[in-house]
Amino acid sequence: MTSAPHPTPLTADDDWWRSAVVYQVYVRSFADSNSDGVGDLEGIRQRLPYLRDLGVDALWLTPFYTSPQIDAGYDVADYRDVDPLFGTLGDFDAMITDAHALGLRIIVDLVPNHTSSAHPWFTAALAAGPGSPERERYLFAEGKGEQGELPPNDWESIFGGPAWTRVPDGQWYLHLFDPAQPDLNWRHPEVRAEFEDVLRFWLDRGVDGFRIDVAHGMIKAEGLPDVGFNSMTTGQRQSELLGKGRLPYFDQDEVHDIYRAWRPILDSYPGGRMAVAEAWAETPQRLARYIGPDELHQAFSFDFLDATWSADSFRKVIDTALAESTIVGAPTTWVLSNHDRQRHVTRYGDGEVGLRRARAAALLMLSLPGCAYVYQGEELGLPEVLDLPDELRQDPAFLRTGESRDGCRVPIPWSGELAPYGFGPEGSELSWLPAPATWRALSVAAQAGVTGSTLELYRAALRIRRQHPALAGTEPITWLETEPGVLAFRRTAGGAELTCVVNISGAEVTVAGHGRPVVASADLTERGDGHVLPVDAAAWFERR
Ligand code: GLC
Repeated sequence: MTSAPHPTPLTADDDWWRSAVVYQVYVRSFADSNSDGVGDLEGIRQRLPYLRDLGVDALWLTPFYTSPQIDAGYDVADYRDVDPLFGTLGDFDAMITDAHALGLRIIVDLVPNHTSSAHPWFTAALAAGPGSPERERYLFAEGKGEQGELPPNDWESIFGGPAWTRVPDGQWYLHLFDPAQPDLNWRHPEVRAEFEDVLRFWLDRGVDGFRIDVAHGMIKAEGLPDVGFNSMTTGQRQSELLGKGRLPYFDQDEVHDIYRAWRPILDSYPGGRMAVAEAWAETPQRLARYIGPDELHQAFSFDFLDATWSADSFRKVIDTALAESTIVGAPTTWVLSNHDRQRHVTRYGDGEVGLRRARAAALLMLSLPGCAYVYQGEELGLPEVLDLPDELRQDPAFLRTGESRDGCRVPIPWSGELAPYGFGPEGSELSWLPAPATWRALSVAAQAGVTGSTLELYRAALRIRRQHPALAGTEPITWLETEPGVLAFRRTAGGAELTCVVNISGAEVTVAGHGRPVVASADLTERGDGHVLPVDAAAWFERR
């Protein structure tokens, strides 16, 4: 079903993304409206008031397009339709209309590096055979060896194993991810025209932006040269170079031509339509090239996510990110978790320690200038589910490498005593991955209105972030002198001052002279003129 596209009814603030808090909705795990155990667009629509009350500005929805779901929807068979698993285009329209009415913007995921092997272009390419124009839209090549029995080069899939699969007529095709995700040939004009049209299709439907999947991958070096090693030959995985070194299939200069063609399309729509790149580059300087007035608005900075739990590590990452954002004239992005990485409660030590640290990290992230991305469930303090039975794991990478991203994708606990904790309608017992028994105490209903809960911490921090003059904009930070292991910085605007202090020193510290505490990740006690900030805790202080 289709319905008429509609304009964005939100205020025309072209710069909204500069200081926004974007909430990542992992669609299949957010809310299930039809009791099939998989989240869907109508489920999101029903839960929009929760997100408005949480206090975020926008939602990024992971792919909900027609797909065989080999890589959870990152294998798209029809870029202009909704998979029946998630609903219909009509459901999308209803969801975005309600979201906009509540003041929430919608960013959708665009997957341009590869299609699904079920995409009509790929089935046509297989049927048409070697040398056909249909094959030109993908990266087919002859193999090496006497009979062409060896892959065309040594490239390795990010999900493990060779990046090439041979088809019955003897040719090979490239897939940087699963064999069900053939890479497109972005030097082909039809590929470019198609995606420009897909952009317009969703912009016409009112989307406020795009998250560009594998934004650094679309162009491959001419001649498809070998890398020189891979886990099959030397044992070193090529993907270890992500963000650290050069690979002939990532971050090629020509990829920027694509974004220079996309930007005018985004700019031709009112209301500040934006794009954020999931890009990995050898250096921060090369990553910065994706951002700017003639390319994309943002690129995820994963350095913050990769920082270890130490003041030095955070300080270094924050300083670098802020310096770069000054150079490119665009605010940085802050990310602690997403659907590909272990949840930060677990990364920071798991259990009570991990949760304390995750709560402190939230206050750190939400007081920094720029755009923050919150991954669904982090506002509940959800940990990674480490003990999912292997037979339930669905990540295609698991089969190829033994590493699985399923543990951060377990459906959200909303309410109730028994799993799946209100993920579906009343009485529905299905969920595509099981939630652990410990999540009963972490559900939205169990935390809402409970003083000190992680949900209330996020709500309070997001409310202050919206309302406080010192946090509302993109004003820079000033680092303050502290004892070792403590991070303290101040932001000042409109006669108001907000100071964030994070205690990673391993011992309690007394904080004084920054005004009154407005939110804290752990209980503060008064001592003399100041407050005792416990170990692994953070607090915001304000002065007006
Ligand atoms: C991105 C997505 C990831 C997906 C991959 C292939 O990295 O975040 O989930 O598996 O691209 O599309």
